[in-house]
Amino acid sequence: MPELSSIRCLVVDDEEIVRSAIARGLARRGCTCVEAATGREALELLRRESPHVIVSDIQMPEMDGLQLLQTVRASHPDIEVIMVTGVAELDTAVDCLRQGAFDYIVKPFQMAQLRQRVHQAVERRQLLLENRRYQEHLADLVRQQARRIEELFLEGIQSIVHALEAKDRYTRGHSVRVAAFAEATARRLGLDDDTVQIIRLGAELHDVGKIGVSETVLQKPGPLTQEEYRHIMEHTVIGARIMTPLLKGADPALEIIRWHHERLDGTGLPDGLRDAAIPLHARIVTVVDAFDAMTTGRPYRAGLSAAAATAELRACAGAQFDPEVIAAFEVVCREAPPTVPSASRLRTPRGVVLGADLLGEEAG
Ligand SMILES: [Fe+2]
Repeated sequence: MPELSSIRCLVVDDEEIVRSAIARGLARRGCTCVEAATGREALELLRRESPHVIVSDIQMPEMDGLQLLQTVRASHPDIEVIMVTGVAELDTAVDCLRQGAFDYIVKPFQMAQLRQRVHQAVERRQLLLENRRYQEHLADLVRQQARRIEELFLEGIQSIVHALEAKDRYTRGHSVRVAAFAEATARRLGLDDDTVQIIRLGAELHDVGKIGVSETVLQKPGPLTQEEYRHIMEHTVIGARIMTPLLKGADPALEIIRWHHERLDGTGLPDGLRDAAIPLHARIVTVVDAFDAMTTGRPYRAGLSAAAATAELRACAGAQFDPEVIAAFEVVCREAPPTVPSASRLRTPRGVVLGADLLGEEAG
């Protein structure tokens, strides 16, 4: 319960005798009171004094008590207002309460009654403020927990990435480079920030299905047979299958995993999609992935120079790669190559609830 001595009260009445009588009566029990003779004066004092409660007359010249009440409720909703009137009218009383007044008291009244109502008004104000703080705290807790749940999902996915990197030395560094350059290329193409973030996640996970590919084939020191090539290419389907429950809600990331080996001429894998059927986010990763693969050395061949790899991309533009993506990628490489982090560190795209299916929620 609030102490009367800690309450700040603004008394508004155009009749000086009534006003100072109320102020004296409240101050006698320790209330700190300021007085205003008009509604306008009251509004000015509000800014300086920040009272907890206003005791206001209704019938006043210029701005009446009801107008003052409306203004205060709109601009200072935490201040409680008690209306005092010499005329007992039911309509006015109802109006006051409807406009948010805490109470409506008819003169003449006992000072003890007013003190009690002031006390109760401040008590209600404290409860409302505490309730709001509690709600904010709860909302904070929910946000923190949602973040933690997402972190846990990402940690789960991250451990799959680490397992793959341990299994396939080539993937180490490849995924983070592809993610960094795909993100920069997507930005260069003018995609919005949310899409760019999902592309970065999809790019970092694009080869995650290699976890399901035979280690002997992955580590083979020489060129692959056609059968081995087909087996390796299954990583697109395996990756999408593993990640579907975890990336529900980040569909473009799943599409990148499944379709980053599709070709515009329809001869790619796994679905033989053509042209615009291959979404732009997958086309971006295809270009960046191919460039990184070409410039990375293998035990059986040296990596190409950047110039030679770019020439190869251009030679295959239209048939395999999207020419516009190649152009944007070249600008990125020439003008603003991104900094590539030393290790994979997944981040959640904004607005995406990773693992929503596993949480039993409907993915938006
Ligand atoms: Fe791949």
